[in-house]
Amino acid sequence: MNTFPKGFLWGGATAANQCEGGYREGGKGLSISDICTGGSRTQAKRITPELEEGTFYPSHEAVDMYHHYKEDIAMFAEMGFNVYRFSIAWSRIFPNGDDCEPNEEGLKFYDSMIDECLKHNIEPLITISHYELPYNLTKEYGGWANRKLIDFFMNYCTAIFKRYKGKVKYWLTFNEINGAMGKLGGFLSLGILNEGTKDFMNQEDDPQKRFQGLHHQFVASAKAVQLAHELDSNYQVGNMIIYATTYPLTCKPEDAIAAQKQNQNFNYYCTDVQVKGQYPTFAQRVWDDNNVKIDIADGDLETIKNGTVDFISFSYYMSSCTSADPAKQGEGNLLGGTPNPYLEASEWGWQIDPQGLRYALIDLYDRYRVPLMVVENGLGAIDKIEEDGSINDDYRIDYLRKHIEAMKEAIQDGVDLRAFTPWGCIDLVSASTGEMAKRYGFIYVEKYDDGSGDFARRKKKSFDWYKEVIASNGEKL
Ligand code: BG6
Repeated sequence: MNTFPKGFLWGGATAANQCEGGYREGGKGLSISDICTGGSRTQAKRITPELEEGTFYPSHEAVDMYHHYKEDIAMFAEMGFNVYRFSIAWSRIFPNGDDCEPNEEGLKFYDSMIDECLKHNIEPLITISHYELPYNLTKEYGGWANRKLIDFFMNYCTAIFKRYKGKVKYWLTFNEINGAMGKLGGFLSLGILNEGTKDFMNQEDDPQKRFQGLHHQFVASAKAVQLAHELDSNYQVGNMIIYATTYPLTCKPEDAIAAQKQNQNFNYYCTDVQVKGQYPTFAQRVWDDNNVKIDIADGDLETIKNGTVDFISFSYYMSSCTSADPAKQGEGNLLGGTPNPYLEASEWGWQIDPQGLRYALIDLYDRYRVPLMVVENGLGAIDKIEEDGSINDDYRIDYLRKHIEAMKEAIQDGVDLRAFTPWGCIDLVSASTGEMAKRYGFIYVEKYDDGSGDFARRKKKSFDWYKEVIASNGEKL
């Protein structure tokens, strides 16, 4: 029996700021990613309000997809992709974010990328905003804390929805919108750069601005959904969250409540707004706990109600545990929480938990009953080129195999899952650490953290493995 439905979308995912490079080509303006230096797991990347002479900024060249996209999309097609999730760099279309007219050269670049996908029968799945806010909107307006960004975002959406009508079907509004529930999302998701912030891992936090910024994104997302539906009845728009599976550290009731609360805050707060069209009943508690007061303008709740998404997409990498005991909190991976004694972790400390993906799928489908897409998943690892040129990434194959098995189980549990686009199908710059050493791809790119490398592409062992997976619609793992 074939578990994955006919027409299941198999592919991969990237984001413009992490792979395109060409940061000043074709009239592109600076984005917030362009002012982040390189870093590593132990050395946080820095955010520099002005570009520094002689400092390495990984997004400036990234893996140069700006000049290699034809070759890259051809390789995706060779693996059998029928979907490719990528983002449009807002600053290619509106270099300063507040420009009156879109930049024709930027629009043309994505005309060509989309056409290249369609030529290979690959469905584009486009993230509208993926950690790449035009920097001018941070500098001059303070990022999403400023309500004016809703209008700027709508100008951008109008330009791309009109331009790519008839060619694109699937859109995602904000990448990992719930990242802004934590302080790291203040800069990355909302473009809020508070005075005193020196590096990415130690941002000065202002919860009032963060929650207000999120509210503005909710309104913007809802407006975008409505606009997309008005402009093209074939358009389907999804939200995009990080799903963080959270287990109680022990069976102590207080730990169970702590885990439930973490689920509410992280997994449901944003999703309820975007899928159910209303703030959840626990929202007031979240605001009180964070000591914030949201300014909700007349009509905002109506807009949110009328702009619910067509499907949910999410990233899933790891799970974590939560304890009611503050002494046990905060020692774990990027999601905070506490390490799970039953799980192994990647070299970056992300705990590997395929069951957590099955849990996520069942949980989201039970709660929301809309189609789901897993639009990010994968293992960031150090890959080695052997003397014969091969790259034997069996660890990556093992990770993906187990997660696909978990998706199969979830489908048999009744979940309506439509797509799987593993992250960084081609090696790219890490979002959290700003390094190349943390690789996710089926395709290796010769680019390194000292800035060297000629961007040559090589197939890893996982390339042929994934090709078989797709060809067998998920049966040959
Ligand atoms: C998600 C982001 O958080 O995880 C991606 O949407 C990111 O942009 C990916 O690259 C993996 O994280 P990292 O830090 O390993 O690049």
